[in-house]
Formats: sequence, structure tokens, C-alpha cells
Amino acid sequence: MTSQTPVISSDLIPSELAPIIEALCAVSKDVAKIIAKGSLGQSLAHQVGENSDGDGQKALDVLSDEMFAEALKSTSVRWYASEEQEDAVLLNEAGAYALAIDPLDGSSNIDVNVSIGTIFSIYAAKDEAEASFLRPANEQLAGGYIVYGPATALVVTFGKGTVQFVLNPDSGLFELAEEAMQIPATSKEFAINASNFRHWTKPVSAFIDDCLAGVDGPLEKNYNMRWVGSLVAETHRILTRGGIFLYPRDGRSGYENGRLRMVYECAPMAFLVEQAQGGATDGKTPIMDQAADTLHGRAPLVFGSSELVDRVAAYHDKAGA
Ligand code: AHG
Ligand code: MN
Ligand code: MN
Repeated sequence: MTSQTPVISSDLIPSELAPIIEALCAVSKDVAKIIAKGSLGQSLAHQVGENSDGDGQKALDVLSDEMFAEALKSTSVRWYASEEQEDAVLLNEAGAYALAIDPLDGSSNIDVNVSIGTIFSIYAAKDEAEASFLRPANEQLAGGYIVYGPATALVVTFGKGTVQFVLNPDSGLFELAEEAMQIPATSKEFAINASNFRHWTKPVSAFIDDCLAGVDGPLEKNYNMRWVGSLVAETHRILTRGGIFLYPRDGRSGYENGRLRMVYECAPMAFLVEQAQGGATDGKTPIMDQAADTLHGRAPLVFGSSELVDRVAAYHDKAGA
């Protein structure tokens, strides 16, 4: 652990997982500090390599991966699976848990002072590393993220609601801010990378066309669009005030299952969103009922206000997609 004094303590955190959450929060304080230095500190956004998915690895991707892995060695995490490492690694032979992590989500926003984050998911460990992660998302024991934004916050679920702790810069502690986040059932805000519109499937195009048609279209409402480019920041906005996020499959080569990875992006976000009364699907089937077939396998992701997520599923049904 990086710090001796606990940085988070709450009876909403199951005691057996508390040391892991403590380690994640302690490291995240250090990561937040590094990020807060911006261009005054070390260079964080230069490319240092490529991960197994073919994404460029930035210095901060690699550094944060090392920081989390090191701190988790002294917890009961047996298997550690990271976006930045090809295979899951053994951290503590005697550990009871398997932790998947996107150490730094939103790498393209590192050098532009826009919110980025860390995403994690915890399962009970099995004997085999891969089997610990390639299983239905509904077997997660915990899912969460830390957002490094104007405020640093931990948003986490253990299956009993979605809880928010905010890092108080005065106390240096993650303090309980919201016991049960609730996503409004509907909203007038959507998030999608519209530059890919020519590659979208029919149901996705039809849904976005109807949003763009506003009050004159079948949805009879004027919609607004937001796109940050950091999944953590999009999720935080939607957990706070509703809306819908889509990273669907599209016609580009390599995007048959969208862009986001099931194990350490889609599954934990779906868990958080469902625990806050929202919906999360691949377009029509709930993410929580699905399992990845490889550690870095992708899944199309649609989540947010339940009425909007249901509507997208209905467009898929109508198109027989
Ligand atoms: P990461 O930085 O961990 O690779 O994840 C970036 C993800 C996600 O945060 C974001 O929603 C999406 O990539 C943006 O992708 P595009 O640049 O394809 O829109
Ligand atoms: Mn990511
Ligand atoms: Mn990442």
C-alpha cells in the first residue's frame, strides 16, 4: 500500500474488499497529483509503445499501470488483468480476488486538461487467470471508476447501489458524497462519436437521425449532444444527470464489436449503471448477461437513461438486427 493512513473508510464498502479499494484510492491520489501538474510535470502524453489491442500507449498509461499493480501486490488480489498488459499476471498467490483495470481511460485527453479516469472490476479469483475474467459480467463483486476531473471522485458498486466518494483536497480523504446515485429514466442528451456516422448500422443511424430531427421528428424533443472522448467522464455525466452513450459496432475493419473492451470497460460501467437504475446493452442484449471470450475482447456499448436504452433496443428489433 502506498500510504499508512487510510484514505477511505465507509461501512458501505464490504470489509473483505476494503483493503483493495483503499489501495486503489491511495494510488489514485498519486495519479491525480501527477495529472494536476499538467505541463509543469513530467511528459505524460508522449507515446511509449503499443498495447495488445494496437492502441498507442502513452507514458501515463504505463506509469499508472505500474503504480496500481505495485500497490495491489500487498492486497488479496490474486490475478491482475490490465489494458496495458497482454496477459493477466499473478500478484498474490494466496489472494481471493481477480481485478481487471483500465489504469488510464481517455489517454487522448491527457495533455488537454480534460477529465480522464481509472476503471476497475473485481471478481472472485478462480485457479486459472483467464477463467477468472472470461465470465458473465453479472458475477462481478465490484465495479467502479475514479474520475480525475475538476474533482477527483470514486464511484463504485458492490451490487447494492452506486455510491460516490469525492476526494476532499482539504482532508486528503475520499468522503461519502452520494449513497445511491440514480440515473433519470429519460433525458435529452446523447453521446456518440458522430464522425463515424457513415459507418453506423441502420438501427443506430435511425435512432440518431430521430434525435437530430428534434421536436419535428418521432421523438418530439430537441436533443443535445456531448462527446468527451473519455468513457469515465461520459459515465460520470450520465450517472449525474442522465443521457445516453453509444459506442456501437460499425462498418470499419476492427470495429465489428465497437471499440470498448468488455472486461475492464463495458462490464464495470454496466454494473454501475444498472445499480443506478439505468440500462446497459450491446444495442439490445444486456451487457450484464454477457461474457468476454478474450481478455481484451471488445463489445458494442449503449448505456444510460433506461427509456433511451430501451428505445435503441427497439430500433434494433424493428430492423431485425
Ligand atoms: P483508452 O484511452 O483507455 O484507450 O479508452 C479510450 C476510449 C474511451 O474512453 C472513449 O470513449 C473512446 O475510447 C473514444 O474512442 P474514439 O476516439 O474512437 O471516439
Ligand atoms: Mn479506456
Ligand atoms: Mn486506458
